[in-house]
Amino acid sequence: MQIHGEYVISYKSMIKQIPVNSFQLNGNEKKYINDCIDSGWISGEGHYIEKFENQFSQYVGRNFGIAVSNGSAALDIAVLAAQIEPGDEVIIPTFTIISPALSIVKAGAIPVLVDSDPITWNMDVTQVEAKITSKTKAIIAVHIYGLPINMEPLLQLAKKYNLKIIEDAAEMQGQSYNEKKCGSFGVISTFSFYANKLITTGEGGMIVCDDPAIAKHCKKLRNLAFEPEGPRFIHYEIGYNYRMTNMQAALGLAQLEQVNTSITKKHSIGKYYNQNLHFLLQHGYQLPLSTTTYAANIYWVYGVVARDEQEKQKIVTHLKEYKIGTRPFFWCMHEQPVFKKLNLFDGQQFPVAEKLARCGFYIPSGIGLTDDELEVVTKTMRDFYE
Ligand SMILES: Cc1ncc(COP(=O)(O)O)c(C=O)c1O
Repeated sequence: MQIHGEYVISYKSMIKQIPVNSFQLNGNEKKYINDCIDSGWISGEGHYIEKFENQFSQYVGRNFGIAVSNGSAALDIAVLAAQIEPGDEVIIPTFTIISPALSIVKAGAIPVLVDSDPITWNMDVTQVEAKITSKTKAIIAVHIYGLPINMEPLLQLAKKYNLKIIEDAAEMQGQSYNEKKCGSFGVISTFSFYANKLITTGEGGMIVCDDPAIAKHCKKLRNLAFEPEGPRFIHYEIGYNYRMTNMQAALGLAQLEQVNTSITKKHSIGKYYNQNLHFLLQHGYQLPLSTTTYAANIYWVYGVVARDEQEKQKIVTHLKEYKIGTRPFFWCMHEQPVFKKLNLFDGQQFPVAEKLARCGFYIPSGIGLTDDELEVVTKTMRDFYE
């Protein structure tokens, strides 16, 4: 408490909020957006869309980029363009955002779940082969939180069983697997540009691929399946309005110009937390793995796993009192009420993913985080244990 004149002001009421996510739009964003406004190209057509698609796909090392309204829309289209049909099975991790599972279910197909690797938090690739049946058509390789999933064993399985790999690289702009960019491994790969990503367009997403026929199909699906060359308003297929606007693409282009700075910032946030949160290990925490044989962590978010749920609750409440934002980890797909209603995953258990979901949370890790804020976060966590 602090005495100020006649009033007693709570110290906590004066603390500045540290949001779990913070972005930076300090390059050409305003200039490009103004250009959209001045030129009148503000909707789902315009040269920023093409420029962003070309430059982003080149950055990832793919032939085609198809910009869409968000990362979930990108997955919806990817699943359809990969010709996943009703009754097909698609393998995904149980520990993920719901988007990949929803895309599969919406296509009438069946998500088949796999537990997580306890160290990398990605899908445990050693458990995938046992899940393959005659109905399996694809694997969605989801990269989680900053370390890529181990792609090589998945690519081998895909070859052996003639499966398609859809790569969900939503969180992975700028990250590589064995020196090759994430997003370059799937027959179709997808990204999100939500405000917490290394490149943001506010809301937005991108599909990347190499096959011209797949690219053409994706473009058609994002635009209500209008026939690109056919008569206007005659449709032969179910499509969606998943178009990205020229203004979003303008933001994206400006963000792409600064991606190396964003990657450096993420690495330095990760390094700072690794050094300053080391003490958490004595309290039974797990910190994110900094490197594997195939990648260095890009720390899209800096997640920690408490020793149990109570411990997590206590520290998250403490951080909240000091206005420090946190987010719980993903909640597993086999425990989602919406899928229980559909009688999916009855009785299935995935102990590693369940522990991550219950005990994991991430702390402020946005690109806009200042050095002072990093210090406040670590100090507040240290104070809790002293
Ligand atoms: C792994 C993964 N896939 C898909 C998405 C969905 O992206 P969006 O929020 O843009 O729909 C996200 C969002 O963060 C994600 O983390």
